[in-house]
Parts: sequence; structure tokens; C-alpha cells
Amino acid sequence: MIELNRHFGAFAVVVTIIFFALQPTEWATKLKVGKEKVSNLQFYFHDTVVGQNVTVVEAASAASTKNSPTFFGTVMVMDDPLTEGPEPTSKLSGRAQGLYAMISQQDIQLLMAVTYVFQSGEFKGSTLSVVGHNAVFNEVREMPIVGGSGKFRFARGYALAQTYSFDLTTDNAVVHYNVTVLHYSSPP
Ligand SMILES: *[C@@H]1O[C@H](CO)[C@@H](O)[C@H](O)[C@H]1NC(C)=O
Ligand SMILES: *[C@@H]1O[C@H](CO)[C@@H](O)[C@H](O)[C@H]1NC(C)=O
Repeated sequence: MIELNRHFGAFAVVVTIIFFALQPTEWATKLKVGKEKVSNLQFYFHDTVVGQNVTVVEAASAASTKNSPTFFGTVMVMDDPLTEGPEPTSKLSGRAQGLYAMISQQDIQLLMAVTYVFQSGEFKGSTLSVVGHNAVFNEVREMPIVGGSGKFRFARGYALAQTYSFDLTTDNAVVHYNVTVLHYSSPP
């Protein structure tokens, strides 16, 4: 009886191994993503600090921020419209939602952590995530695109930001964004 059980046990192990070996290995399935392609997106970002329809608010600051000429320690939260042209009435492409913080004690420099949420055109419903350093008074600032969703799954690239207009009394700004992004023609 014991002998029979031992044989049966060995048989069961072999059957189990064969069974799993013949299963389609779900966990190792190769994703089909199509060809890698580069897209270029151009839009204007409207940051309204003061006015009728404010799009950016101060969410936090440190006790020492009020003594800092560079506003060190301020955290702003934004929900800024992105438009095709520089005019605020220009067609809406999406929104830049996220935050920026004043991170330099020497100069006005920002850390941006923003999602571009596209609401029209080819990329409607897709997003791109930007995390990077923004020295706002430099003529051209480059920020990395670190990922995306929807049509931008696996995306990476860079955004070049150039101030189109800046009002020194209100701090309201319109910024041109020129985004170059590497992504796939048929993401999973
Ligand atoms: C503010 O928003 C309202 C409602 O969307 C709009 O009618 C108005 O033109 C906006 N004002 C400015 C200054 O953009
Ligand atoms: C956008 O940036 C690319 C470089 O990444 C440059 O070749 C192109 O001229 C720029 N386009 C505009 C409209 O600024």
C-alpha cells in the first residue's frame, strides 16, 4: 500500500509538471506595442495668479518664506488651461494639472510636477507626466517627460518651455510649450 502511494506520488508530480509546462505562460506574454514614433505637440499654458478666473493657488509655504526674496518654500497648485494659440480664447487642447514649488534660495527656480491632460484632438483622453526643474527667467527651459497614459503609455521625451508673456504686476504668464515625445503606434 505504501509502495503504491509512493509510485502514485511520483506520477502525480510528473503530471503536474507536464500540465504547467503546457499552459500558456500568461506572465511571460510579449506585449505588442507597434512601432516607436515621435510626436511633436505645441500648446500654450495660461497661468492666472490674479484675475477673474484664477487657475493657480498657493497651497503651502514655510514660516520663513515671507523673508525669502526667492519665495523659497512656496507650493502652488495649478489647473491651467492649455490652448492651441497664445490667446486665452484660443481652442482648448487640455489642462496642466499639478503643482510647482519654489526650490531655490538664490534665484527664482521651480520644481514642476505636472500632468498634461489632453482634452481634444488625436491625444484626447491621454496624459503626459512632467517632472523637472524650471528656471523660469531663462529663455528656454527644458523639462523631462517621464511617462504617460492612454496613447502615451511608455512615453518619454522632453518639453521646451518659452515664456510668451509675463505680467510683472500680477505674475500671470502665458508660456509656449514645445513637447517632443517618443511613444508607440499601438500601445497595449
Ligand atoms: C472667466 O470665466 C467665465 C466663465 O467660464 C468666462 O465667461 C469669462 O470670460 C472668464 N474671464 C476671463 C477674464 O477670462
Ligand atoms: C520645437 O523643438 C524642436 C526641438 O526639439 C525644434 O526643432 C522645433 O523647431 C521647435 N518648434 C517650435 C515651433 O519651437
